[in-house]
Amino acid sequence: MTNQDRSYAIACIPGDGIGPETVAAARRVLDVVADDAGFRFEWQEYPWGCDYYLATGSMMDEDGLSALSSADAILLGAVGRPDVPDHISLWGLLIPIRRGFDQYVSLRPVRLLDGVDSPLAAGRDRLDVVIVRENTEGEYSEIGGRMFRGRPDEMAIQEAVFTRIGIERITRYAFDVARTRTGKVASATKSNGIIHTMPFWDEVVSEIAAEYPDVELTRYHVDALAALLVLNPERFDVVLGSNLFGDILSDLTAALAGSIGIAPCGNIDPSRRFPSMFEPIHGSAPDIVGRGVANPIGQIWSSVLMLEHLGEESAARRLERAIESVLASGVRTPDLGGSHGTSQVTDAIISAYAAAETK
Ligand code: NAI
Ligand code: MG
Repeated sequence: MTNQDRSYAIACIPGDGIGPETVAAARRVLDVVADDAGFRFEWQEYPWGCDYYLATGSMMDEDGLSALSSADAILLGAVGRPDVPDHISLWGLLIPIRRGFDQYVSLRPVRLLDGVDSPLAAGRDRLDVVIVRENTEGEYSEIGGRMFRGRPDEMAIQEAVFTRIGIERITRYAFDVARTRTGKVASATKSNGIIHTMPFWDEVVSEIAAEYPDVELTRYHVDALAALLVLNPERFDVVLGSNLFGDILSDLTAALAGSIGIAPCGNIDPSRRFPSMFEPIHGSAPDIVGRGVANPIGQIWSSVLMLEHLGEESAARRLERAIESVLASGVRTPDLGGSHGTSQVTDAIISAYAAAETK
C-alpha cells in the first residue's frame, strides 16, 4: 500500500443533542487533515440514539455491533435526551459498544491550555494529567435488582464486579502510559469504606506495580484524591481509577481544565481486535442544542486521540497544536467565556492547522 492509498473506515454515530453539531465540526476538520496528509477517511454514518429509540424502540440496530466491527475506529458525539431515561440511552448504545468491543481503557488526557481560565487558583502548567479509567466492569454492572416496588420496604441492590484480569490489564495500561510521561501513577481507592472490592483492587494494582520498578505508585482514597487534584494538581500525572471513580475524577479534572466542552476521551481496545471509539466526555447538552454555540473542541481533541490510534502521529500533534493556538488566540465558545460559535471555532482550527508546519 502506498501512502496515497491509505484510508480509514470510520463509523460515525452523531447521536443526540449537540452530538450532530460537534461531530459535523470534527468531520470537517478531519477531512482537511486527511487531505493535507495524503490519506482518506471513509465515513459510514449511523442514525442511532434517542430519536432512533423513540422511532423504533431500540437505541441501535440489533446487528449494530457487527456493522461497526469492520470499522477502523468509531467517532461518537453524545447520547441522551431529556424525555428518554438516561439508563436506556447509556445501556442501549454506549455500554454495549464499550463491552462488546472490549474497550477496557477509557483514556482521558486533561491539560490546562493557554488562553483558558481555570477555577484553579494556582497558575497554569500545573494541571497535566491522564485519567485511565477501567471501562468494562466495576461498579457499572448489571447485577442486582429491585424488589417491593412502591411499598414502604422497597429496596434496590447493585453489585460491583471486579476481576483479576480486569484490574491487571487496566493497571498495566496505566503504567505503560506513565512510562511515556513522568513515571507516576496515582491509584484511586476507597478500601476504608468498600471492604471487599477495593482491597482486592489495591492488591492487584500493587502486584502489577512490582513489574514496573521505574514507575512510582501512590494510593489515595478517592475523596482525598478529588480534593488534592484541586489543591495540588502538579502532584499528579497518570490517575488510575475504577469505572465509577475514573468517571467522576475525569469530570472533575475536565472542569478544572476550563470546561467539560473541551475534554476528550478514547474508549480503547489495546489488543486491537475490535474498533476503538472516540468521543468527547460531555453529554448531549440539551440546554444549548441548536444554538450554534456548542464547543467543538472536545470532539476535535477526541479526533486527535483517534488519529494517534490510527498511527497518524504527526497529523495528531499538528491538530493538537492548532487547537492550542486557537484557544490562546481568544477564539472560543461561551462555555469558555467567549462569544464565538461552533463554526467559527472550527474554521479557526482549520486555518491554524493549515498554517502550522508539520513537525
Ligand atoms: P452535559 O455534558 O450534556 O452538559 C453539562 C453542562 O455542560 C451543560 O450546561 C452543557 O450546556 C455544558 N456543555 C456540555 N458540553 C458542552 C459543549 N461541547 N460546549 C458547551 N457547553 C457544553 O451533561 P448533562 O447535562 O448531565 O447530561 C445531558 C444528557 O447527556 C443526559 O441525557 C446524559 O445522560 C447525557 N450524557 C451522555 C454522555 C455520553 O454520550 N457519553 C456523557 C454524559 C452525559
Ligand atoms: Mg461521565
